[in-house]
Amino acid sequence: MTKQDDFEIFLMAPPGLEAELCAEARELGFRTPRPMQAGVTIQGGWADVWRANLELRGCGHVLARVGSFRAMHLAQLDKRARKFPWGEFLRKDVPVHVEVSCTRSRIYHSQAAAQRIGRAIQEELGAPLKDDAEVVVKVRIADDLCTISIDTSGESLHKRGHKEAIGKAPMRETLASLFLRRCGFTGVEPVVDPMCGSGTFVIEAAERAAGLKPGRSRRFAFEQLANFDAAVWERMRGGGNAVLPPVKFFGSDRDAGAVRMARENAARAGVADFTVFRQQAVSDLVPPDGPAGLVIVNPPYGTRIGDKKPLFALYGALGQVLRQRFSGWRVGIVTTEAPLAKATGLPFLPPGPPVLHGGLKVTLFRTDRLGDAP
Ligand SMILES: C[S@@+](CC[C@H](N)C(=O)[O-])C[C@H]1O[C@@H](n2cnc3c(N)ncnc32)[C@H](O)[C@@H]1O
Repeated sequence: MTKQDDFEIFLMAPPGLEAELCAEARELGFRTPRPMQAGVTIQGGWADVWRANLELRGCGHVLARVGSFRAMHLAQLDKRARKFPWGEFLRKDVPVHVEVSCTRSRIYHSQAAAQRIGRAIQEELGAPLKDDAEVVVKVRIADDLCTISIDTSGESLHKRGHKEAIGKAPMRETLASLFLRRCGFTGVEPVVDPMCGSGTFVIEAAERAAGLKPGRSRRFAFEQLANFDAAVWERMRGGGNAVLPPVKFFGSDRDAGAVRMARENAARAGVADFTVFRQQAVSDLVPPDGPAGLVIVNPPYGTRIGDKKPLFALYGALGQVLRQRFSGWRVGIVTTEAPLAKATGLPFLPPGPPVLHGGLKVTLFRTDRLGDAP
């Protein structure tokens, strides 16, 4: 195996959800997935890098760890950075941005280190430096070891390229897919989100059930790298045709604008035929005909939209509807406040760790299948 087809690939995950991303990577057949802090490592080559960007629903960025060397001081960093085979990965006509972080190292000035590495790339390879370049070289200097990674994704992978319309507090697609997975969703049961906003949970669930690859409609930074092969990539990406799932996916929201947005987003994602969105308050929610499945919802949180007090009534009403009408269904509620979750009166399993989302810590509270209402 050459160095080009066997290196470490780091899949970034929201801290707290590494195990879910690791399970997804294993399921998709990536080699030796291992959970780490804030991500998962796999071994592979460039085809694996492209496929990870294309197929992983829970990953935020895919970093290709292309090399490492020791550097005890800036002059040594400069010398070794100049010898690094940048031309194997970067193109001299494509702008690059360099980011450095330093921990427990004699080189502690990350700006000075970034400047040395940037200058080495510019002078040895000829590639221009640009602050907002799509191609970002990320260098971690830890214990005097410089590890060079290329962020092969570019824009964060939660941007699937279908959601033009977003609501007040949208859930990130990557996070939504990992929460669905933690709730045991495998793509074969119906999903209901009674406060669906822009429709993130419903669309993610529907896409997974239909076998649609999350990155099918967007571009990636790796398309700008020296080793990119457009013909191989086109074959890998495929036609993106949906397989009709055996069940449907349901979203509702009391806000007419949100429902319209969710429908538009679903149409752009190619899942309109098996998603149903309607304008409806949570108090009018009833289970759809057919088998029981998963209710997953991200109700408003006080810290983000409005005040907290009226929310206790809303969570209470949601809990009552679910307990009385959704026997046999499982429930997942994503919220910032344990007392709000408790106000639902639902029999939650012990919660997992809080996860950072948009500057807030959110927790998934989930139940087993609900029993019959007393
Ligand atoms: C935090 S947002 C959900 C965001 C959504 N997960 C997304 O990704 O866009 C909460 C949603 O709950 C809706 N909502 C608030 N009270 C409601 C109620 N009583 N019945 C139905 N929907 C309600 C709001 O209109 C808002 O769209």
